[in-house]
Amino acid sequence: MTHNPKELSGRHAAELAESGMTLGLGTGSTVYFTLVRLAERIRDEGLDVRGVPTSVDTETKAREMGIPLVGLDEVDFLDLTIDGADEIDGEFHMIKGGGGALLREKVVASITQRQVIVVGRDKVVERLGLGFLLPVEVAPFAQPTVERALARLGCTPRMRLGEQGAPFVTDNANRILDCKFADGILDPRRLEQDIDRIPGVVESGLFIDLAHVCVIGEADGTVEVREKRG
Ligand code: A5P
Repeated sequence: MTHNPKELSGRHAAELAESGMTLGLGTGSTVYFTLVRLAERIRDEGLDVRGVPTSVDTETKAREMGIPLVGLDEVDFLDLTIDGADEIDGEFHMIKGGGGALLREKVVASITQRQVIVVGRDKVVERLGLGFLLPVEVAPFAQPTVERALARLGCTPRMRLGEQGAPFVTDNANRILDCKFADGILDPRRLEQDIDRIPGVVESGLFIDLAHVCVIGEADGTVEVREKRG
C-alpha cells in the first residue's frame, strides 16, 4: 500500500498545535492536510487556536474549514507556524515560493517562535536549486532591471506566467522571476543577501535560518521528525 507523503507530514504537524496558540498557516498542497487535521481537532477536541494565513488561498480554505483567523495587526508573534517547502537542505535552508506565496510566508516565519516545515522525502536535497527554480518576487515596474541584475548573479531568470500566458500576479500584486542556477545554489546565505540588495526585489524565495523542525513524510507510511542541529 502506498501512502501520500504530503498527507502524512501535513497531518502529523497539526498534532503539534495546542490550545491557546496563535498559528502561522502556510501555503500549498502539504499544508492543506495540516488545515484539514486542525479543523478536525477544532471540531472533535475543542482545540482552541487562531491562525494567520500566508496567502489568499490558505485564508479561503481555512475559513471554509472553520479555522478562526486573525490579522497581523492583532498579534505580536506566533507560537507555531506550519508551512511547506519546495526544497530543504541539511542546514534547513529552503527554497519556497512555488505557489507564489513567499513574501507573506517569510513575514510570518520571521515572527514565529517555532517554524515547522512539512514535506515529502523528495523535497529533501543536498544542494538547493538543482531540482527547483528559485522564485524572486519583484515590483512590476522594476522587473527588467531586476532581471538583468539577477543574471549578473549567475542565473537565468524567467518571468512566471499564469493563465493564458499573462504574467503571474502574486497576492501582493507583484511578479515572480523564477531563476535557474545551472549548478545549483552553492552559498544560499550569501545569495539571499545579494538578491535582497537589488532595488525592486520585494523578497526572494531563499529562506535562511527560518526553520526549526522538518517533518518528512515517506511513501512507506512513516514520518521522520528532524530538529535543526545547533
Ligand atoms: C508557496 O508559495 C510555497 O512556498 C509552498 O509552501 C511550497 O511550494 C510547498 O508547496 P507544496 O506543499 O504544494 O509542495
